[in-house]
Amino acid sequence: MKVLGVESSCDETGLAIHDSEAGLLAHAIHSQIAMHADYGGVVPELASRDHIRRVIPLTREVLGRAGLEPADLDAIAYTQGPGLAGALLVGAAFANALAAALGIPAIGVHHLEGHLLSPLLATPRPEFPFVALLVSGGHTQLMRVDGVGRYRLLGETVDDAAGEAFDKTAQLLGLGYPGGPALSRLAEGGDAYRFRLPRPMLNSGDLDFSFSGLKTAVLTLTRKEDESARADIAAAFQVAVVDVLAGKCLAALRQTGLRSLVVAGGVGANRALRARLDAEAGQHGFSVFYPPLELCTDNGAMIAYAGAQRLRQGVVADGRFGVRPRWDLAELTAPA
Ligand code: KG4
Ligand code: ZN
Repeated sequence: MKVLGVESSCDETGLAIHDSEAGLLAHAIHSQIAMHADYGGVVPELASRDHIRRVIPLTREVLGRAGLEPADLDAIAYTQGPGLAGALLVGAAFANALAAALGIPAIGVHHLEGHLLSPLLATPRPEFPFVALLVSGGHTQLMRVDGVGRYRLLGETVDDAAGEAFDKTAQLLGLGYPGGPALSRLAEGGDAYRFRLPRPMLNSGDLDFSFSGLKTAVLTLTRKEDESARADIAAAFQVAVVDVLAGKCLAALRQTGLRSLVVAGGVGANRALRARLDAEAGQHGFSVFYPPLELCTDNGAMIAYAGAQRLRQGVVADGRFGVRPRWDLAELTAPA
């Protein structure tokens, strides 16, 4: 079964083709980062217009690379939400129109389900059940995953998401948008222990997170220190976030009694976080799984894959055309 995946929820246009036998056949991404950089964040109207320009050429590109014609596709999966309404509508309209023309189903996929299942596109693959740490620009959640569509929220951020904290802190340090990758590069040359930043909620006894206080602590530091302290501040911030994320992952594994951890979402690309979780896994005897590095941030492959799993479960397109800019992952279910 060959599924075309269309991702357009934010500032990346992602297209991919997943084959249930052969795996990922092709994927292509156009990032709008350069376009939004001048504004310091994503401008929704510009994002929508750019998705419109990119979606057809990228579809041709992945079909060409996979050596397929549109008629070879069995279904089209698209991100139905959550995300920017206008941006989502571009992918939804395109996917539904092409699916109608080809007489195949169009499957609306939850963006976070895509991220959650993305480590299954790597080898070795995790087995269900596992604990998933979802760390993106908009979300920070720990979930228990028992199977496709069977997700239970264990804890989440009470304020900023981890990626958002990276982005806002990067802005305070004069780095561009999005700040995560730039901040982590700056941190590599810094001393993580010259300044001591708080580890918010590390010992709160639950599996929730808070990152907005950390950003405020960085703001105070940047006002006190000069330019030369930037790398040390970045490193202190990064180690504080990594400490909290790793500590809560360990607590979630302890609480659930599970021995597999899956990390998904853009912040999952962070090298310090990966090194730390790998070390903890070795020490505490659990396994940790990540998506392929290029599939950590938004992409069409995870949408194609999640759509294929849903199709296999017998979830069929209901023919309704609509996007869900706000959509709680907990609302998803698996067929009984
Ligand atoms: O999953 P994603 O592409 O988009 C959302 O659905 O939000 O995640 C983007 C987020 C941004 O906040 C970005 O700064 C962060 O992931 N990010 C990183 C790294 N790469 C991306 N944060 C820390 N270290 C990185 N290497
Ligand atoms: Zn995402």
